[in-house]
Amino acid sequence: MKIGIIGLGNVGGGIAYSILHNENIKLDMLLLNDIVDKVYGVRLDLCHAFPEMGNKIVVGGYEQLNNCDIVIITAGITMFSGSNQFDRMDLLSKNAEILKNIFEKFTPKKDAILVIVSNPSDVMAYVAWNLSGLNSKQVIGFGNQLDTARFRFLLGEKLGINAGEIETYVIGEHGSGMIPVFSHTSVGRDLDQSARDEIKTRLVNAAIEVIKLASYTQYGPGQNVSKLVEAIANDKKETLCVSTLFDGEYGVRGLYVGSPCVIGRGGVERIVELNIDENERKQLNAVVEKMREVQKV
Ligand code: 2OP
Repeated sequence: MKIGIIGLGNVGGGIAYSILHNENIKLDMLLLNDIVDKVYGVRLDLCHAFPEMGNKIVVGGYEQLNNCDIVIITAGITMFSGSNQFDRMDLLSKNAEILKNIFEKFTPKKDAILVIVSNPSDVMAYVAWNLSGLNSKQVIGFGNQLDTARFRFLLGEKLGINAGEIETYVIGEHGSGMIPVFSHTSVGRDLDQSARDEIKTRLVNAAIEVIKLASYTQYGPGQNVSKLVEAIANDKKETLCVSTLFDGEYGVRGLYVGSPCVIGRGGVERIVELNIDENERKQLNAVVEKMREVQKV
């Protein structure tokens, strides 16, 4: 597997570390790409952590990225503690421009899988799909998988249950429109509305809570992208929540929206449509309206 990462800031660095740490990902090359020289320092630091991988961790340009099997894009501006802009959607115009610049030189190979982490990731995945010339199944928006991990953590904390045993989903948007699917959680379905509201508020604000305290998120995105890459690389057919192009699911077509999907070597191999309740359906409709406004070629 040749894996490329475009953008080696805090999130990109966390992803690189988690991928190198994941023994289930058989790496031939981890290609690091960034426009700033910091990337050389990140490479060295990673080589010190994994000296046996040193000759496989390289800094490279588009020629090499064009040969990668999986390319993860994290490039762009991020929400940060010094700003009052904590809505991922505020990053769209700048990050879409950065993505367009990338695709002027980046031509992924025909069977490559792209994982779009830059925010707002649902919209950025839609833009990347349009620019890439690839099938939408090969261009995956990352985010709801991390939201699902955060939801499991919050449920586990609230109920005093090991989060590892909790199965659930977050769908919709990796942003203010994320929908914790209480109707399909393996525990906590009996939580009353005020407990649900409290968990949802903490969930929607989870990244902001981290950023205010620690300046950036890193381990959460890192570990969850590594899990997603593992599912792709090993053709695991694992169900993970990602953003993908809907083709009639919930009556929605032509928009990138978050959903549980079966992930394998082909990327999104199937969208798993849930039998959501009326309240969740209303929330999904609102996300779809919002996405219709921003996902335009
Ligand atoms: C996160 O949720 C900032 O989208 C990033 O950690």
